[in-house]
Amino acid sequence: MGLEDILYRRSKIFKHEERLQVDYVPTYLPHREQQLKMLALMFTPLINEPGSTSQKIILTGRVGTGKTAVAKYFGREIKKIGDRKGIKINYVHVNCHKNRSLFLLMRKTARDLKLPVPPRGFSSQELVGIVSNMLEERDEYLLLTLDEADYLIRATDGDALYNLSRISDEAIHEHKRVNFIFIMRDLSAMYLLDDSVRSTLQHNIIRFDPYTSSQICDILWARVTEEEALYPEAIGEGIIEHIGDLVGYERGGKGDARLALETLWRAGKYAEAEGASEIGIEHVRKAYSDSLIATSADISALRLHEAILLMAIAKMLKMTGFRRIKLGDAEKMYEVICEQLGESPRGHTKIWEYVQSLKNMGIIEAEKSGKGIRGKSTLIEIPAIPLDTLEKMLWEHLKGLRKSGSRRRNVF
Ligand SMILES: Nc1ncnc2c1ncn2[C@@H]1O[C@H](COP(=O)(O)OP(=O)(O)O)[C@@H](O)[C@H]1O
Ligand SMILES: [Mg+2]
Repeated sequence: MGLEDILYRRSKIFKHEERLQVDYVPTYLPHREQQLKMLALMFTPLINEPGSTSQKIILTGRVGTGKTAVAKYFGREIKKIGDRKGIKINYVHVNCHKNRSLFLLMRKTARDLKLPVPPRGFSSQELVGIVSNMLEERDEYLLLTLDEADYLIRATDGDALYNLSRISDEAIHEHKRVNFIFIMRDLSAMYLLDDSVRSTLQHNIIRFDPYTSSQICDILWARVTEEEALYPEAIGEGIIEHIGDLVGYERGGKGDARLALETLWRAGKYAEAEGASEIGIEHVRKAYSDSLIATSADISALRLHEAILLMAIAKMLKMTGFRRIKLGDAEKMYEVICEQLGESPRGHTKIWEYVQSLKNMGIIEAEKSGKGIRGKSTLIEIPAIPLDTLEKMLWEHLKGLRKSGSRRRNVF
């Protein structure tokens, strides 16, 4: 079969493949009714007495438990309900891993609200001013979700959250127009917060438990039936249930819906590549182990230069065959790759920050060399991810980043 045939061929497996992607928000979220109800309860003042309070809610739970999906879903719904009541509610979702300062997150917020933001010369306070004036002038409200807020809290010692909540509480205008949802994997970053911020947040925590096997099955089936991501005929006997068994928390799995969806998607891809008309158990086996690796390192969350540095580390490890390499050597490789990509390399302080971040994400290990190696240097290791797989994932991610980066270069 020629390339053209492959490209034009209609899939026998996928009907709407994009509906299996991680950022797709489905029309309903099985087993998150409780969390959505609690959110609705907490935000009733926004609908019944808009402007009376500035609500702040925390969503917490392990990765893949539906926190991001629930927040986006709720944002979409409350906007619709507001529209019906003549209350204009804007929903903005900011990822704090990518926007790790008050300035960056306010800039992203202003842009999402389609407010003109000059590229330079604005402080975060001024950005906050621009946003709140706009809301006041247009008599509108904002529900702002800070996703992966743990990163923002740790990067700013909690100051960013403190400043944000002060701004919303002591608004120059009596009317409270900004409400918040904070998403955190766990609550350990809370101790960095100011007492006053912490105490308001403590009463408004919504927890997300890992999914059980049968819950995973319901989530996957909904993507087949309601969402029509795949053709029902393409699902082999017992396939969904098998993924449920692998991922279900009570069976020692991760309880992670993202892992389950990715497994189903990959299994479909492998079936397609073989020209099979349905997904079989062997496709699932391979898809599950590949997805485990892909989701264990959250490559899609890496910023451009973090990704380039990680690529450099992987290449050095492969080239040398050593278990660990010196950071200095990885930096040289990093500069080479930057040149290939036409990116200007970042300085040592930034590199050091990327190393810490990759370490925090559990992708690399980094420690100071002990005796036996001349001079002090940092040794880097990638303990768990096969280097070939990692390189492939990184290229994909870099391609995506650079595509969007060419349109809005200054994001990086
Ligand atoms: N209850 C659910 N129903 C349908 N899809 C879900 C559900 N929970 C999670 N998902 C999907 O699983 C993936 C991971 O969920 P996400 O909200 O990103 O998890 P988290 O933010 O907790 O890490 C997303 O693609 C999301 O749409
Ligand atoms: Mg999330």
